[in-house]
Amino acid sequence: MIIFNNNAFHLCTKNTSYIMAVFGGRLLNLYYGKRISRVPDIEQMLPISGPRIFSCPDINEGDISVSTDNLTVEYPTFGSADLRTPAFSARYADGSEVTRFEYAGYEITEGKYRPEGLPSVYAEENDTVSSLKIILEDRVSKAAAELNFSVFEDYDAITRSVKIINKSDKAFDIEKALSLCFDLRRSDFDMITLNGAWARERMPERMPLRIGVQQVESMRGITSHHENPFFALLDRNADENSGEVYGFNLIYSGNFVAGVQRDSYNVARAYIGINPQNFVWRLEPGESFVTPEAVSVFSDSGIGGMSRIFHKLYRERLCRGVYRDIRRPVLINNWEATYFDFNEEKILSIAKTAKQADIELMVLDDGWFGKRNGESGSLGDWVPNTDKLPNGIKGLAEKVNALGMKFGLWMEPEMVSPDSDLNRAHPDWCLHIGGRTPTLGRNQLVLDLTRKEVREYIKSTFDRLLGDGYISYIKWDMNRSMTEVGSAVGGAAAQGKVYHSYVLGLYEIMEYLVNRYPNVLFEGCSGGGARFDGGILHYMPQIWTSDDTDAVERLYIQYGTSICYPYSAMGAHVSAVPNHQVWRTTPMKMRGDVSICGQLGYELDLGKLDEADMNCVKEQVKAYKELSEVFHNGDLYRLLVPVGNNAAVNEFISNDKNTVIVCSYIIKGTPGAPHDYIKLKGLEAGADYADQSGRAFSGDYLMNFGVTVSYTSDHKSDITVFKRIKK
Ligand code: GLA
Repeated sequence: MIIFNNNAFHLCTKNTSYIMAVFGGRLLNLYYGKRISRVPDIEQMLPISGPRIFSCPDINEGDISVSTDNLTVEYPTFGSADLRTPAFSARYADGSEVTRFEYAGYEITEGKYRPEGLPSVYAEENDTVSSLKIILEDRVSKAAAELNFSVFEDYDAITRSVKIINKSDKAFDIEKALSLCFDLRRSDFDMITLNGAWARERMPERMPLRIGVQQVESMRGITSHHENPFFALLDRNADENSGEVYGFNLIYSGNFVAGVQRDSYNVARAYIGINPQNFVWRLEPGESFVTPEAVSVFSDSGIGGMSRIFHKLYRERLCRGVYRDIRRPVLINNWEATYFDFNEEKILSIAKTAKQADIELMVLDDGWFGKRNGESGSLGDWVPNTDKLPNGIKGLAEKVNALGMKFGLWMEPEMVSPDSDLNRAHPDWCLHIGGRTPTLGRNQLVLDLTRKEVREYIKSTFDRLLGDGYISYIKWDMNRSMTEVGSAVGGAAAQGKVYHSYVLGLYEIMEYLVNRYPNVLFEGCSGGGARFDGGILHYMPQIWTSDDTDAVERLYIQYGTSICYPYSAMGAHVSAVPNHQVWRTTPMKMRGDVSICGQLGYELDLGKLDEADMNCVKEQVKAYKELSEVFHNGDLYRLLVPVGNNAAVNEFISNDKNTVIVCSYIIKGTPGAPHDYIKLKGLEAGADYADQSGRAFSGDYLMNFGVTVSYTSDHKSDITVFKRIKK
């Protein structure tokens, strides 16, 4: 619901309020947090009382008692009265860089605002969603900003995107245009960000805010392994289950900044958007520019409460297509089983053993095309290598289909190898800057997706592969960060647009593909989890979470990923032991118990397993098919997080509260350790629940006494399923 009254905008979700007001021509943010039933006269809420702040710009001419440092600004601009980190700056035709946006009107509509050409959260017919457009204008430059908010009442989330319009008769260059920027009137927060590296993505880091700017970012052209476009601000004493938590996420797959500026007056300016580094967007008269969408949520039920809001919104209103709602196939992937060393016979033997365990999809990974037998060459030449696959992809796929399995294929469509026919035919199709030798990454170059002919090449490659319908799944990989980011087309003025235009080009291709091939399941991947973001999730409902498939490492990676993203989005595979990334040996049961909560897959040659492990795999696949509905559509409670503990416990509960799954993992057994009693959450207190062996417990017993976790040995895991006993 959006209410405009007495110059104040009140955006209400079920449990939150977001309040802005117009004051002296400026748009101020007055409050974001737990829902307030009635907004008083805005004078009561204005942040202008208090001691005079010497040396700062005055709000009103002739009145030195009130300064702009007192104002909590929505969408601040550079160079005029607000001297903190801006959301927007532009260089105008006269060389100046000053903008002062003033309020110029608003519009409230039903339904969701959708940023054109960009992935975004959407509304369905019966959703209670309304949108607010606030128009801001700079009188001198004639630059305008439309702040577009959408309020998802039942989901407790607010989305926003900004449209910048050039209403003048001269071009100007946007140098910074963030998606979200507003001031919270308190700063005694901790901040959580998700940081890491290849094979250890999204490790939560938590630290108290200090004065100044603290931010995460990417300048790699992709989201990155290292930082993620997410952060949370939370009470210093907030934990998984209690305390106030704000969460911010950008639905975007390229360079970003996400951070906070804590000022000297206990105000925290939160911001998120496209990274301004090497972003210069020329806007001709009449043209407009739309920022990616940012999502903000608030919960007073701790970090877990915030995560549950993101999870539900993303799995129901960001992911789309047929696979949003149906169980996705259990897959087997040959990568860690064979790497580049395979042929048709080998792949078929892997598929046949997998079929015995009722695995449903055989995915052929890297190395099937051109002359590729290692990490160099042939990217871009998407023709089957007939030395390995004498019957081509089609021949292999038909044989896999004949086993009663679906067939899927690895692609790295955004790449070109220097040693490839594609590169020899079109040496200027890669991102590069004339006169500079492009730096290689994994021996490869990145295609220039800002060019239409390149995008058409990629689309037609997929049309050729997917047109006949024997491929049901694509693993879309992207294995390097970008360097020397320039385009051979567009001249000097276009170079500051390349990073973002690349991402728009990527989205255009993906949009084309998901519309044209609605029954193909796409899984995102980027050297593991370097592009795990909401942008990709709009096109691909699952993403390969990490190249690290070790069960213990995955507990940490999946935990960190789940801070913002749902388990239904996480590709999670069981691999061989000793594990290929950390050489740890864990039991098959634990490997399965860790993967089963995500999108289950296997990435090993099952033919090499002994009978006991093979039986274990069969049980896992069977259990997954029964339980995935709860893992993927239910609510997650992280009862014990792996960081700082020798164990982890997750609870998944179905929406009707009839099924509760408790997954517990001992990372390190500790002789003489006391038992932990872990209290379950969210059950029906008065209901009775029975576990797999038929023992019955009341909901209030499970929530107050709990279940026992014993540290008897390393790498022990358990999955307990409680079902409500019908009375
Ligand atoms: C990346 C992916 C892996 C695998 C290889 C193939 O590293 O993350 O899963 O597909 O590429 O080269």
